Amino acid sequence: MAWDLVVVANRLPVDRVQLPDGTAGWRRSPGGLVSAIEPVMRAHDGCWVGWPGGTDQDLEPFEDDGMTLVPMTMTRDDIEGHYEGFSNGTLWPLYHDLVAKPEFHREWWDSYTQVNQRFAEKAAELAEENATVWIHDYQLQLVPRMLRELRPDLRIGFYLHIPFPPAELFQQLPWRRQLLEGLLGADLVGFQLPGAAQNFIRLVRQRVGHKTHRDLVYLPDGRTVRAAAFPISIDAAGFEALATSPAVAERAQEIRDALGSPRKVFLGIDRLDYTKGIYARLRAFSELIKDGHLDVEDAVFVQIAVPSREQVEQYRILRDEIDRLVGRINGDLGRIGRPAISYLHSSYPREEMAALYRMADIMVVTPYRDGMNLVAKEYVACRFEDDGALVLSEFAGAADELRQAWLVNPYDINGMKAALLEAYQAEDKELTRRMKAMRKTIKQHDVVAWAQGFMSELSDVRNPHSKPVRPARRS
Ligand code: G6P
Repeated sequence: MAWDLVVVANRLPVDRVQLPDGTAGWRRSPGGLVSAIEPVMRAHDGCWVGWPGGTDQDLEPFEDDGMTLVPMTMTRDDIEGHYEGFSNGTLWPLYHDLVAKPEFHREWWDSYTQVNQRFAEKAAELAEENATVWIHDYQLQLVPRMLRELRPDLRIGFYLHIPFPPAELFQQLPWRRQLLEGLLGADLVGFQLPGAAQNFIRLVRQRVGHKTHRDLVYLPDGRTVRAAAFPISIDAAGFEALATSPAVAERAQEIRDALGSPRKVFLGIDRLDYTKGIYARLRAFSELIKDGHLDVEDAVFVQIAVPSREQVEQYRILRDEIDRLVGRINGDLGRIGRPAISYLHSSYPREEMAALYRMADIMVVTPYRDGMNLVAKEYVACRFEDDGALVLSEFAGAADELRQAWLVNPYDINGMKAALLEAYQAEDKELTRRMKAMRKTIKQHDVVAWAQGFMSELSDVRNPHSKPVRPARRS
């Protein structure tokens, strides 16, 4: 069967896992990418190509929750070289401002190239004539060019969900030119923020030598490629509806009671990733207790860390560091039945997330660098009573839109302490003023608007072979 829209992402929205009874089952995949593309898929009649987790699993295409999913097989070598290696050991730290040290290995690059080629071939096989293919994220940056070589009739979009670094960092990559040329296979290359699109255009000019003007790149074959910002968002109405439901209200109350009904609850929800600044934020909170500004009878910090990339060494080290820190803080500062930090290493369904957002007074999102951070937006969407405080890193893409949050520099522990305390002590009137403004922004720029914005720009690209695409339907 051939499709009018093919979405290509490293991951499928569901992950193949082994259940406690030993049988295989499916679990929702972690991360912002999946949350953003899911509603797009529901609004279109297309298929989604991606990795279902695990190794060496030959699975047939299947339907899940109204979506057609096409699983790609990955071998242990693919996982080591393409996924854990080049994607998450080289590109991820490099694109996040070197928060960790990237490693450069030629065999990782070879594996990345091979896997990208397989994804391109699969997309070429599934797309009908003149179809639109939308490729996602840093794991697949070579696919646009590979796919164009196989299928010049296609309209190809690419969207990067993570930051795109300044030239000074990007040019460390031994394969910088190939990656830029890979992306230039697309008609439209989308980024989270305008600065990232500018970094890309500048690099294309300097490193590949193409002519550029503003957001356009002129290729020798007559094609033009556009690079622009499309800040990603969430299903704001869906989250609000969940948060207002009686079941979620009841669950929120249950969680608060279980915490011992403290006066205020701080909340952090992140994939357990070194870019997220979890360690620094927990230290800042614990120092506020140590200094006597907060008391464990009044305040508790709930930190949810969603397991992520557990085979990658830097992630294992981080997990141990956080385990130790939480143990030390609770040992030093907690009382019987009153830990300072309630720490959970687990992932939760949307309903439980909505209950957590609903019960938390202060949401703390402090990454060192983050493409957007959808958790910050989800919290705002769930605060239907215009209350609650958001403490947000300046280095999250979301800070560009959520200006009324308490903005912090996560490298500045004293600054973070001051912001946490201010948010804790803020008057209701102040909270409402800030939250109202942020909610307005989120409602206007939801994920449907994001997808429509990208798709309509993509359909406007006038290139020799491509025909217009159908506009997205509102679900
Ligand atoms: C981020 C990336 C996604 C990725 C997700 C989860 O949101 O932008 O591409 O899927 O993290 O990470 P994982 O390595 O588990 O796919």
